[in-house]
Amino acid sequence: EAEQCDYRERIKRLLKEKNAVLVAHYYTDPVIQALAEETNGCVSDSLEMARFGRDAKEQTLIVAGVKFMGETAKILSPEKTVLMPTLEATCSLDLGCPIDRFSAFCDAHPEHTVVVYANTSAAVKARADWVVTSSIALEIVEHLDSQGKKILWGPDRHLGAYIEKQTGAEMLMWQGACIVHDEFKARALQALKQQYPDAAILVHPESPANIVAMADAVGSTSQLIKAAQTLPNKRLIVATDKGIFYKMQQAAPGKIFLEAPTGGNGATCRSCAHCPWMAMNGLQAIEQALTDSNGHEIFVDEGTRVKAMLPLNRMLDFAA
Ligand code: 13P
Ligand code: SF4
Repeated sequence: EAEQCDYRERIKRLLKEKNAVLVAHYYTDPVIQALAEETNGCVSDSLEMARFGRDAKEQTLIVAGVKFMGETAKILSPEKTVLMPTLEATCSLDLGCPIDRFSAFCDAHPEHTVVVYANTSAAVKARADWVVTSSIALEIVEHLDSQGKKILWGPDRHLGAYIEKQTGAEMLMWQGACIVHDEFKARALQALKQQYPDAAILVHPESPANIVAMADAVGSTSQLIKAAQTLPNKRLIVATDKGIFYKMQQAAPGKIFLEAPTGGNGATCRSCAHCPWMAMNGLQAIEQALTDSNGHEIFVDEGTRVKAMLPLNRMLDFAA
Protein backbone atom coordinates (compact mmCIF):
# COMPACT_ATOMS: atom_id res chain seq x y z
CA GLU A 1 0.00 0.00 0.00
CA ALA A 2 2.64 2.51 1.13
CA GLU A 3 4.92 1.40 -1.69
CA GLN A 4 2.09 1.88 -4.21
CA CYS A 5 1.53 5.34 -2.83
CA ASP A 6 5.19 6.24 -3.38
CA TYR A 7 5.01 5.03 -6.96
CA ARG A 8 1.88 7.04 -7.59
CA GLU A 9 3.40 10.23 -6.24
CA ARG A 10 6.61 9.78 -8.21
CA ILE A 11 4.70 9.03 -11.42
CA LYS A 12 2.52 12.10 -10.95
CA ARG A 13 5.63 14.24 -10.62
CA LEU A 14 7.27 12.63 -13.66
CA LEU A 15 4.16 13.11 -15.78
CA LYS A 16 4.30 16.85 -15.07
CA GLU A 17 8.07 17.10 -15.52
CA LYS A 18 8.00 15.27 -18.85
CA ASN A 19 4.82 16.89 -20.15
CA ALA A 20 3.32 13.42 -20.40
CA VAL A 21 -0.20 12.02 -20.10
CA LEU A 22 -1.38 8.53 -19.20
CA VAL A 23 -3.71 6.78 -21.65
CA ALA A 24 -5.04 3.54 -20.15
CA HIS A 25 -7.35 0.75 -21.23
CA TYR A 26 -10.18 -0.56 -19.02
CA TYR A 27 -8.42 -3.94 -18.70
CA THR A 28 -5.37 -2.54 -16.91
CA ASP A 29 -4.94 -2.79 -13.14
CA PRO A 30 -7.41 -0.55 -11.24
CA VAL A 31 -4.44 1.24 -9.69
CA ILE A 32 -3.38 2.38 -13.18
CA GLN A 33 -6.92 3.35 -14.16
CA ALA A 34 -7.28 5.42 -10.99
CA LEU A 35 -3.95 7.11 -11.64
CA ALA A 36 -5.00 8.02 -15.19
CA GLU A 37 -8.21 9.52 -13.78
CA GLU A 38 -6.41 11.51 -11.09
CA THR A 39 -3.93 12.97 -13.56
CA ASN A 40 -6.45 14.02 -16.24
CA GLY A 41 -5.40 11.20 -18.48
CA CYS A 42 -7.82 8.82 -20.13
CA VAL A 43 -9.32 5.44 -19.27
CA SER A 44 -11.32 4.09 -22.18
CA ASP A 45 -11.86 1.60 -24.97
CA SER A 46 -9.45 1.37 -27.86
CA LEU A 47 -11.32 3.83 -30.10
CA GLU A 48 -11.35 6.55 -27.47
CA MET A 49 -7.70 5.86 -26.56
CA ALA A 50 -6.79 6.56 -30.20
CA ARG A 51 -8.81 9.76 -30.23
CA PHE A 52 -7.55 10.97 -26.88
CA GLY A 53 -3.91 10.35 -27.81
CA ARG A 54 -4.32 12.17 -31.10
CA ASP A 55 -5.90 15.22 -29.46
CA ALA A 56 -3.72 15.38 -26.33
CA LYS A 57 -1.69 18.54 -26.00
CA GLU A 58 1.11 16.82 -24.08
CA GLN A 59 4.33 15.94 -25.91
CA THR A 60 4.53 12.40 -24.50
CA LEU A 61 1.87 9.72 -24.33
CA ILE A 62 2.31 6.83 -21.96
CA VAL A 63 0.01 4.12 -23.22
CA ALA A 64 -0.96 1.48 -20.66
CA GLY A 65 -2.48 -1.36 -22.63
CA VAL A 66 -1.10 -3.59 -25.36
CA LYS A 67 1.25 -2.89 -28.22
CA PHE A 68 -1.29 -2.21 -30.95
CA MET A 69 -2.67 0.63 -28.82
CA GLY A 70 0.78 2.22 -28.57
CA GLU A 71 1.34 1.79 -32.30
CA THR A 72 -2.02 3.35 -33.12
CA ALA A 73 -1.10 6.34 -30.95
CA LYS A 74 2.23 6.72 -32.76
CA ILE A 75 0.64 6.36 -36.21
CA LEU A 76 -1.77 9.19 -35.41
CA SER A 77 0.80 11.39 -33.61
CA PRO A 78 4.25 10.90 -35.15
CA GLU A 79 5.46 14.13 -33.54
CA LYS A 80 4.72 12.80 -30.05
CA THR A 81 6.87 10.44 -28.01
CA VAL A 82 4.84 7.30 -27.32
CA LEU A 83 5.97 5.18 -24.38
CA MET A 84 4.62 1.91 -23.04
CA PRO A 85 5.25 0.29 -19.64
CA THR A 86 6.43 -2.76 -21.61
CA LEU A 87 6.84 -3.46 -25.29
CA GLU A 88 6.24 -7.16 -24.56
CA ALA A 89 2.50 -6.66 -24.08
CA THR A 90 1.03 -8.05 -27.25
CA CYS A 91 -2.37 -9.55 -28.16
CA SER A 92 -3.28 -13.00 -29.47
CA LEU A 93 -5.15 -11.42 -32.38
CA ASP A 94 -2.07 -9.46 -33.44
CA LEU A 95 0.17 -12.54 -32.96
CA GLY A 96 -2.17 -14.71 -35.02
CA CYS A 97 -2.18 -12.35 -37.98
CA PRO A 98 1.37 -11.95 -39.31
CA ILE A 99 1.69 -9.46 -42.16
CA ASP A 100 3.17 -11.84 -44.75
CA ARG A 101 0.34 -14.37 -44.46
CA PHE A 102 -2.35 -11.74 -44.16
CA SER A 103 -1.03 -9.83 -47.13
CA ALA A 104 -1.05 -13.04 -49.23
CA PHE A 105 -4.68 -13.62 -48.18
CA CYS A 106 -5.56 -10.09 -49.34
CA ASP A 107 -3.61 -10.52 -52.58
CA ALA A 108 -5.60 -13.65 -53.36
CA HIS A 109 -8.83 -11.61 -53.15
CA PRO A 110 -8.01 -8.31 -54.81
CA GLU A 111 -11.65 -7.40 -55.43
CA HIS A 112 -12.34 -7.23 -51.68
CA THR A 113 -12.32 -4.24 -49.36
CA VAL A 114 -9.96 -5.10 -46.50
CA VAL A 115 -11.37 -4.31 -43.06
CA VAL A 116 -9.14 -5.03 -40.07
CA TYR A 117 -9.74 -4.89 -36.37
CA ALA A 118 -7.59 -2.39 -34.46
CA ASN A 119 -6.00 -5.35 -32.60
CA THR A 120 -3.35 -5.77 -35.31
CA SER A 121 0.18 -4.61 -36.12
CA ALA A 122 0.92 -1.34 -37.91
CA ALA A 123 1.94 -3.39 -40.96
CA VAL A 124 -1.44 -5.15 -41.12
CA LYS A 125 -3.23 -1.81 -40.77
CA ALA A 126 -1.08 -0.47 -43.61
CA ARG A 127 -2.45 -3.28 -45.82
CA ALA A 128 -6.08 -2.41 -44.96
CA ASP A 129 -8.70 -0.13 -46.48
CA TRP A 130 -10.46 0.31 -43.14
CA VAL A 131 -9.53 -0.14 -39.49
CA VAL A 132 -12.37 -0.67 -37.00
CA THR A 133 -12.65 -1.16 -33.25
CA SER A 134 -15.45 -3.12 -31.64
CA SER A 135 -17.40 0.04 -30.86
CA ILE A 136 -17.72 1.09 -34.51
CA ALA A 137 -17.27 -2.18 -36.46
CA LEU A 138 -20.98 -2.86 -37.01
CA GLU A 139 -21.70 0.59 -38.40
CA ILE A 140 -18.71 0.58 -40.73
CA VAL A 141 -19.43 -2.87 -42.15
CA GLU A 142 -23.10 -1.93 -42.57
CA HIS A 143 -22.01 1.15 -44.49
CA LEU A 144 -19.64 -0.82 -46.75
CA ASP A 145 -22.20 -3.57 -47.30
CA SER A 146 -24.85 -1.05 -48.30
CA GLN A 147 -22.45 0.23 -50.95
CA GLY A 148 -22.23 -3.32 -52.33
CA LYS A 149 -18.60 -3.79 -51.30
CA LYS A 150 -17.20 -7.30 -50.92
CA ILE A 151 -15.47 -7.48 -47.55
CA LEU A 152 -12.40 -9.33 -46.35
CA TRP A 153 -12.32 -9.30 -42.54
CA GLY A 154 -9.55 -9.99 -40.06
CA PRO A 155 -8.43 -11.18 -37.67
CA ASP A 156 -11.11 -11.91 -35.02
CA ARG A 157 -13.47 -14.65 -36.21
CA HIS A 158 -15.97 -14.26 -33.37
CA LEU A 159 -16.37 -10.52 -33.86
CA GLY A 160 -16.53 -11.20 -37.60
CA ALA A 161 -19.30 -13.80 -37.18
CA TYR A 162 -21.26 -11.44 -34.92
CA ILE A 163 -21.02 -8.65 -37.49
CA GLU A 164 -22.11 -10.97 -40.28
CA LYS A 165 -25.13 -12.04 -38.27
CA GLN A 166 -26.12 -8.48 -37.38
CA THR A 167 -25.57 -6.89 -40.79
CA GLY A 168 -26.30 -9.79 -43.15
CA ALA A 169 -22.98 -9.01 -44.88
CA GLU A 170 -20.95 -12.00 -46.02
CA MET A 171 -17.28 -11.62 -45.24
CA LEU A 172 -14.17 -13.56 -46.17
CA MET A 173 -12.64 -14.20 -42.78
CA TRP A 174 -9.28 -14.63 -41.14
CA GLN A 175 -9.52 -17.19 -38.33
CA GLY A 176 -8.05 -15.37 -35.32
CA ALA A 177 -9.33 -15.30 -31.75
CA CYS A 178 -8.74 -13.61 -28.43
CA ILE A 179 -7.44 -16.14 -25.90
CA VAL A 180 -9.28 -14.34 -23.09
CA HIS A 181 -12.78 -14.16 -24.57
CA ASP A 182 -12.46 -17.53 -26.26
CA GLU A 183 -12.49 -19.11 -22.78
CA PHE A 184 -16.06 -18.22 -21.84
CA LYS A 185 -18.21 -21.34 -21.63
CA ALA A 186 -21.88 -21.45 -22.61
CA ARG A 187 -23.02 -24.36 -20.46
CA ALA A 188 -21.54 -22.88 -17.31
CA LEU A 189 -23.02 -19.50 -18.22
CA GLN A 190 -26.44 -21.11 -18.59
CA ALA A 191 -26.08 -22.64 -15.14
CA LEU A 192 -25.15 -19.27 -13.65
CA LYS A 193 -28.12 -17.63 -15.36
CA GLN A 194 -30.40 -20.32 -13.93
CA GLN A 195 -29.06 -19.51 -10.51
CA TYR A 196 -29.68 -15.77 -11.07
CA PRO A 197 -32.55 -15.54 -13.56
CA ASP A 198 -32.92 -11.80 -12.89
CA ALA A 199 -29.35 -11.08 -14.04
CA ALA A 200 -28.55 -9.42 -17.37
CA ILE A 201 -25.65 -10.82 -19.41
CA LEU A 202 -23.13 -8.38 -20.90
CA VAL A 203 -20.83 -9.75 -23.59
CA HIS A 204 -17.85 -8.43 -25.55
CA PRO A 205 -18.19 -9.60 -29.18
CA GLU A 206 -14.76 -11.26 -29.16
CA SER A 207 -16.59 -14.05 -27.29
CA PRO A 208 -17.80 -17.21 -29.07
CA ALA A 209 -21.20 -17.14 -30.81
CA ASN A 210 -22.91 -19.32 -28.18
CA ILE A 211 -21.98 -16.75 -25.51
CA VAL A 212 -23.04 -13.78 -27.65
CA ALA A 213 -26.36 -15.56 -28.27
CA MET A 214 -27.14 -15.39 -24.54
CA ALA A 215 -26.34 -11.68 -24.19
CA ASP A 216 -28.70 -8.89 -23.16
CA ALA A 217 -26.09 -6.41 -24.38
CA VAL A 218 -23.18 -6.93 -26.79
CA GLY A 219 -20.56 -4.26 -27.32
CA SER A 220 -17.14 -2.75 -26.85
CA THR A 221 -15.83 -2.19 -23.35
CA SER A 222 -17.26 1.34 -23.17
CA GLN A 223 -20.61 0.15 -24.55
CA LEU A 224 -20.75 -2.58 -21.89
CA ILE A 225 -20.09 -0.03 -19.14
CA LYS A 226 -22.95 2.07 -20.53
CA ALA A 227 -25.19 -1.00 -20.58
CA ALA A 228 -24.33 -1.75 -16.94
CA GLN A 229 -25.56 1.74 -16.13
CA THR A 230 -28.72 1.79 -18.22
CA LEU A 231 -30.08 -1.75 -17.92
CA PRO A 232 -32.61 -2.01 -15.09
CA ASN A 233 -31.16 -5.28 -13.74
CA LYS A 234 -29.49 -5.07 -10.37
CA ARG A 235 -27.32 -8.10 -11.07
CA LEU A 236 -25.04 -8.29 -14.11
CA ILE A 237 -23.04 -11.20 -15.49
CA VAL A 238 -20.06 -9.89 -17.45
CA ALA A 239 -18.25 -11.77 -20.21
CA THR A 240 -15.10 -9.75 -20.76
CA ASP A 241 -11.78 -9.07 -19.02
CA LYS A 242 -12.32 -8.54 -15.28
CA GLY A 243 -10.31 -5.30 -15.36
CA ILE A 244 -13.54 -3.69 -16.51
CA PHE A 245 -15.16 -4.11 -13.08
CA TYR A 246 -13.31 -1.08 -11.73
CA LYS A 247 -15.15 1.27 -14.09
CA MET A 248 -18.41 -0.67 -14.08
CA GLN A 249 -18.68 -0.42 -10.33
CA GLN A 250 -17.94 3.28 -10.54
CA ALA A 251 -20.53 3.80 -13.30
CA ALA A 252 -23.24 1.66 -11.69
CA PRO A 253 -22.75 1.75 -7.93
CA GLY A 254 -25.07 -0.51 -6.00
CA LYS A 255 -25.21 -3.11 -8.75
CA ILE A 256 -23.84 -6.60 -8.31
CA PHE A 257 -21.32 -7.89 -10.83
CA LEU A 258 -20.55 -11.51 -11.54
CA GLU A 259 -17.80 -12.87 -13.77
CA ALA A 260 -19.01 -15.06 -16.62
CA PRO A 261 -17.51 -18.53 -16.15
CA THR A 262 -14.39 -19.51 -18.07
CA GLY A 263 -12.92 -22.92 -18.77
CA GLY A 264 -12.50 -23.61 -15.08
CA ASN A 265 -9.44 -23.62 -12.91
CA GLY A 266 -5.96 -22.39 -13.74
CA ALA A 267 -5.02 -25.78 -15.11
CA THR A 268 -7.53 -25.72 -17.95
CA CYS A 269 -7.91 -21.99 -18.47
CA ARG A 270 -5.05 -20.09 -20.04
CA SER A 271 -6.22 -16.62 -19.16
CA CYS A 272 -9.28 -16.84 -16.85
CA ALA A 273 -10.95 -13.59 -17.88
CA HIS A 274 -7.83 -11.53 -17.52
CA CYS A 275 -5.55 -10.70 -20.42
CA PRO A 276 -2.01 -11.79 -19.57
CA TRP A 277 -0.58 -8.96 -21.68
CA MET A 278 -2.72 -6.25 -20.11
CA ALA A 279 -1.54 -7.60 -16.75
CA MET A 280 2.07 -6.74 -17.66
CA ASN A 281 1.31 -3.06 -17.10
CA GLY A 282 2.35 -2.01 -13.60
CA LEU A 283 3.26 1.12 -11.67
CA GLN A 284 6.94 0.21 -11.55
CA ALA A 285 7.08 -0.21 -15.33
CA ILE A 286 5.31 3.13 -15.83
CA GLU A 287 7.85 4.87 -13.62
CA GLN A 288 10.67 3.16 -15.48
CA ALA A 289 9.33 4.24 -18.87
CA LEU A 290 9.05 7.84 -17.71
CA THR A 291 12.53 7.80 -16.16
CA ASP A 292 14.36 6.18 -19.07
CA SER A 293 12.53 5.73 -22.36
CA ASN A 294 15.07 3.16 -23.54
CA GLY A 295 13.21 -0.05 -24.35
CA HIS A 296 9.82 1.62 -23.79
CA GLU A 297 9.40 3.80 -26.85
CA ILE A 298 7.20 2.88 -29.79
CA PHE A 299 8.62 3.41 -33.26
CA VAL A 300 6.77 2.79 -36.51
CA ASP A 301 8.58 2.81 -39.82
CA GLU A 302 7.52 5.99 -41.67
CA GLY A 303 6.39 4.24 -44.87
CA THR A 304 4.19 1.88 -42.86
CA ARG A 305 2.93 4.69 -40.66
CA VAL A 306 1.73 6.84 -43.55
CA LYS A 307 -0.12 3.90 -45.10
CA ALA A 308 -1.64 2.78 -41.79
CA MET A 309 -2.82 6.29 -41.00
CA LEU A 310 -5.26 6.33 -43.93
CA PRO A 311 -7.58 3.49 -42.79
CA LEU A 312 -7.28 4.68 -39.18
CA ASN A 313 -8.34 8.19 -40.12
CA ARG A 314 -11.16 6.76 -42.22
CA MET A 315 -12.47 5.13 -39.04
CA LEU A 316 -12.02 8.24 -36.91
CA ASP A 317 -13.73 10.44 -39.51
CA PHE A 318 -16.59 7.94 -39.79
CA ALA A 319 -16.97 7.88 -36.00
CA ALA A 320 -16.88 11.68 -35.68
P1 13P B 1 -12.36 -2.40 -26.85
O1 13P B 1 -12.10 -1.57 -28.05
O2 13P B 1 -13.79 -2.83 -26.72
O3 13P B 1 -11.87 -1.72 -25.62
O4 13P B 1 -11.57 -3.78 -27.02
C1 13P B 1 -10.20 -3.90 -27.01
C2 13P B 1 -9.76 -5.25 -26.65
O5 13P B 1 -8.61 -5.60 -26.73
C3 13P B 1 -10.76 -6.19 -26.19
O6 13P B 1 -10.21 -7.40 -25.86
FE1 SF4 C 1 -5.94 -9.04 -27.26
FE2 SF4 C 1 -7.79 -10.43 -26.02
FE3 SF4 C 1 -5.89 -9.22 -24.63
FE4 SF4 C 1 -7.84 -7.78 -25.85
S1 SF4 C 1 -8.09 -9.22 -24.17
S2 SF4 C 1 -5.64 -7.35 -25.83
S3 SF4 C 1 -8.13 -9.00 -27.69
S4 SF4 C 1 -5.62 -10.90 -26.08
